[in-house]
Amino acid sequence: MKRIGILTSGGDAPGMNAAINGIVDEARKHNIEVRGYLEGYSGLIANDYIELTPENVKPHHGRGGTFIGTSRSEEFKKPQVQAKIAKRLLEEEVEGLIVIGGDGSYRGALSLSKLGIQTIGIPGTIDNDIPLTELTLGFKTAVRNVVDTVDVIMQSAASHKHLYAIEVMGRKAGDIAEWAGRALDADGIIANTNDFDVEKVRQTIEDSQAMGKRFQLFVIAEGVMTCEEFQEIVERETGYPIHPLMLGHIQRGGNPVAEDRILGLGFGEHAVKLILEGKSGRCTSVIDNKVTDLSLEETLAAVE
Ligand code: ADP
Ligand code: F6P
Repeated sequence: MKRIGILTSGGDAPGMNAAINGIVDEARKHNIEVRGYLEGYSGLIANDYIELTPENVKPHHGRGGTFIGTSRSEEFKKPQVQAKIAKRLLEEEVEGLIVIGGDGSYRGALSLSKLGIQTIGIPGTIDNDIPLTELTLGFKTAVRNVVDTVDVIMQSAASHKHLYAIEVMGRKAGDIAEWAGRALDADGIIANTNDFDVEKVRQTIEDSQAMGKRFQLFVIAEGVMTCEEFQEIVERETGYPIHPLMLGHIQRGGNPVAEDRILGLGFGEHAVKLILEGKSGRCTSVIDNKVTDLSLEETLAAVE
C-alpha cells in the first residue's frame, strides 16, 4: 500500500491529535504515506491536504483540538460531490481513508465506503454518543474540564450560598452531565428528560440547605433543557434564585487526559491495521475496555 488519507470532522475532541499520531506511527512502519486533509470534508472537496510526518504530527500529540482543522460541511452531503471525491481518491491512489469524528462524520465515511473507498471511522466526540463503543475520544477530557471549572465556580458559590444550574454539552446524550455531576457530588443531575421534576428540585434544595451545604449545584444536559429554562421554572415555582451558567466551549478544549491520549494512539494504530487487512466500512471501538472494531452500518443503525 502506497498512501492513505485522514481527516477530522464535526466538533473537535481532545485526543484527535493523538489518534493522528497513532495513525502516522503505524503507517510509517509499513512505509505508507499519510495525507491529512485540512478542515474536515471541506479539505477533501477542495483536495487541500498536507503530508503528515512524525515531525509535523508529534508536537501536537498531547494538545487539544485538531491541528489539521475540522468543519461541518453541507456540501459534502451531496451524492455528486461524494462521487467526484471517490473518483479522485482512486485516481490519486489514496488507497484508504480514516475519518475521525462523530456519527455525522461516520455517515459521510459510510457513503465513501459504498463508493469503493476503503474507509474506517474513529469515534472522536466529547459527547460519548456513538452507539456500541464504550468510549469516544475526548469524553474523559470533557468531563475533566467540567469538573475542574465547576470546582472553581463553586468556591465562589459557597462564599455567597448561591444556587447554580450549570448546562453542559452532549447534544442529545446525558453522559457528560452524568459523569461530571457525579464527580462533583452535584445536588441534582438532569441528564435525561424524565430527570426534571420541579417539586423534586425544591425538595433537593431544602435538604441540601438543611444539611448545611453552602452551595447548591444542578448539572443539566443541554439535550434536556437550557439552564435558563431551568431557572425560569424553578424560580417561578419555588422562589429560590438560580444562577444559570452555560459552560460552553471550555468543555471541548484543553490538553487531553492520559486516557484520551492512549485511546487516540490505540484507535489510530488499529485503524491502519484494518486498512492493511483490506477492511472497509468499519469503525474502531472500545468493548470490554479493549480497542476493537465494528461495522459502521450497524453502529449507525443503533443511533437513536
Ligand atoms: P459529528 O461528526 O460530530 O456528529 P456533524 O453531525 O456536524 O458532526 O457531521 C460532520 C460532517 O459530516 C457534516 O458537516 C457533513 O459534512 C458530514 N455528514 C453528516 N451527515 C452526513 C450524511 N448523512 N451523509 C454524508 N455526510 C454527512
Ligand atoms: O458534538 C460536540 C458538541 O460540542 C456538542 O456537545 C455541542 O452540542 C455541539 O458540538 C456544539 O457545536 P458548535 O461548536 O458548532 O457550537
